[in-house]
Amino acid sequence: MATPLLAALLAAALLASPAAPAASASGGTIVFTTLGRSRYEFDIFSLPLAPSPHNPAAAAELRLTDGVSVNYNGNFAPASDSILFVSERNGSLNLYLSPVPSSRREALESASSSSSSAAATISPLLPWEPIALKDRPSLTPDGSRLVYVSTAVPAAEPRSSWAAVYSTELSTGRTRRLTPLGVADFSPAVSPSGEWTAAASPGAAGWSGEVEDLRTDIYVFRTADGSRRSLAIRDGGWPSWADETTVFFHRRDSDGWYGVYRAEISVTGDGVEAASVERITPPGFHAFTPAASPGAPGLVAGATRLAGSDYRHIEVIDVSSDGKNAYFEVTRPVAPRVHHFNPFISPDGARVGYHRCRGRGNGDSPLLLENIKSPGSPDTFSLFRIDGSFPSFSHDGKKIAFVGLPGMYVVNSDGSGGRRKIFSGNAFSTSWDWKRKGVVYTSIGPDFASETTEVDVVAISLGDDDDESTISMKKLTVGGENNAFPSPSPDGKWVVFRSGRSGNKNLYIIDAEDGEAGGIRRLTEGPWSDTMCNWSPDGEWIAFASDRHAPGSGSFAIYMVHPNGTGLRRVVHSGGSGRTNHPWFSPDSKSLVFTSDYAAVSAEPVSNPHHYQPYGEIFTVDIDGSNIRRLTHNSFEDGTPSWTPYFLEPRDVGETLQASGRCAFQDCHWLNIQDAAQPEELNYGKSC
Ligand SMILES: *[C@@H]1O[C@H](CO)[C@@H](O)[C@H](O)[C@H]1NC(C)=O
Ligand SMILES: *[C@@H]1O[C@H](CO)[C@@H](O)[C@H](O)[C@H]1NC(C)=O
Repeated sequence: MATPLLAALLAAALLASPAAPAASASGGTIVFTTLGRSRYEFDIFSLPLAPSPHNPAAAAELRLTDGVSVNYNGNFAPASDSILFVSERNGSLNLYLSPVPSSRREALESASSSSSSAAATISPLLPWEPIALKDRPSLTPDGSRLVYVSTAVPAAEPRSSWAAVYSTELSTGRTRRLTPLGVADFSPAVSPSGEWTAAASPGAAGWSGEVEDLRTDIYVFRTADGSRRSLAIRDGGWPSWADETTVFFHRRDSDGWYGVYRAEISVTGDGVEAASVERITPPGFHAFTPAASPGAPGLVAGATRLAGSDYRHIEVIDVSSDGKNAYFEVTRPVAPRVHHFNPFISPDGARVGYHRCRGRGNGDSPLLLENIKSPGSPDTFSLFRIDGSFPSFSHDGKKIAFVGLPGMYVVNSDGSGGRRKIFSGNAFSTSWDWKRKGVVYTSIGPDFASETTEVDVVAISLGDDDDESTISMKKLTVGGENNAFPSPSPDGKWVVFRSGRSGNKNLYIIDAEDGEAGGIRRLTEGPWSDTMCNWSPDGEWIAFASDRHAPGSGSFAIYMVHPNGTGLRRVVHSGGSGRTNHPWFSPDSKSLVFTSDYAAVSAEPVSNPHHYQPYGEIFTVDIDGSNIRRLTHNSFEDGTPSWTPYFLEPRDVGETLQASGRCAFQDCHWLNIQDAAQPEELNYGKSC
């Protein structure tokens, strides 16, 4: 069965793509950071589902994906002999199908032959264009249609999710949107008969900025055409079908805990409704992303993290009437010290799949600069993710400065190494002097701090490439009142930065060499926060982020002002309490790259519990506020972009990163729950 199915899928993948979007004349290279993403690599694995305490499980774990890129959110194809999954190989999320190895030996063989060139041996199921996130794939039982989430079509309103459910007929490539326009859907699941699809949707109310607890309801509609859409279950996400009338899902209940729930649904003339809803997992631990299968009646798998455990594991719960909700650990005996996510059960009920860090020594070498496909690239500009934050290019394009965790580094932008640590404390933002070679401005001190916290603007001179002792640092501000985000003028004379010295964060300009000692001029003034400034290459404008439209609200928009203080205007705002930050001018000064929640969230946050927030994508806009374009499509947090005229060839640039700390991420603080009755160890950590 695998062969004809694969053939049909490959044929579908070759279909022509729609016309490319309009080109921009700006050119160059945009580099940005994705919080944490380059520090982990997921593969999809499986274990026998059979809850046997004596199962020599370690020997039975199979790796189902090839150790290339990040592979996640797997699902078995109907015949269980192939696996569907999401992968970011080749610089953009796409869906793939590959045969399931039938034995551990076969899995090991396919793993040992993996290398970056293996990326070329497996073809995506969907065309590359338009660039979009594709997520949570399933196939109809006859294997003819792929049902998935895509962000290919922009939402009509800013700050609305672009995520919607589509189905693609694999033999023809004919694609149909199943989600109504103006609505978002996440995490679709096709019923065992294929007739119905369930999905989690924030409904017409859309997204109002939630990160921690995205409220969705479960809608059910016909897989064929999206018709007969009806609200089946209020307050739930990540549906999974056990049979035609039983859906498992997760919900964060009023006690703060995510739990797995079961709903019996009934199809009536008007639509589908839940006849009963029952909580399966008790309070006291989080259990989410449930998985059920007609092949495993009476069983449901979920991702859980038990009290006292540092790791999330896959557990199976016996929910049959005589099972008394007994729990069986699936993954902990096999890989106790790694997080496991988003289980799925094979149609025959024999195996449970999940994704986890693939561990050391497998797959690609870590990347310093990972090429990311974007609309228009590489014809107009190339786009890269860097393993670090606040990247900026030297003006000859040869070096990149960026912030590590902690410290500040400079590397050669062509991947030839040359890594130097130029500062070892906490620094944020980097920008290079236009005239004096090897001078980088940054701010040192704590980030996200109050107006009065000591943070200073400094200029670091790199000196001689090969000699650490020639690095020198000059402090440009005095008094330390949260001075940050320096950006130099192209004539080399001035530096604009933000300071909290008046009690509010506003913009100021100082002499680039003498700093504040040479005098200081105030550029903006008011009881709000102006920050993250960037001076245009033509010298005419300073772009910055500000909450002046709603001081203290947490909402930021991008504004511009001439360096002489005239011409203030707002360029882009994602609306309401939206967040739009970190502007950086294009080389021709005619557009800006920035990060924003303009496209809301692209997945259920709890399906990525190691990402701090599931929004934050990279966009460009013309400086008159027109022509907003989304460059990144993923459910990660993308930020701190910068833009250089230097065109970096679109290819990945590897570097040996230190293995320690990779994959050692924490859950997000938003999974902590404040419950005095709970022991301390249930506070899962502050970062992720
Ligand atoms: C990578 O994407 C390009 C299109 O951008 C395509 O031509 C190429 O075949 C892809 N490579 C693989 C291995 O899929
Ligand atoms: C301020 O600077 C802008 C841009 O350089 C210029 O067009 C304008 O005339 C200047 N205004 C004043 C009052 O100097």
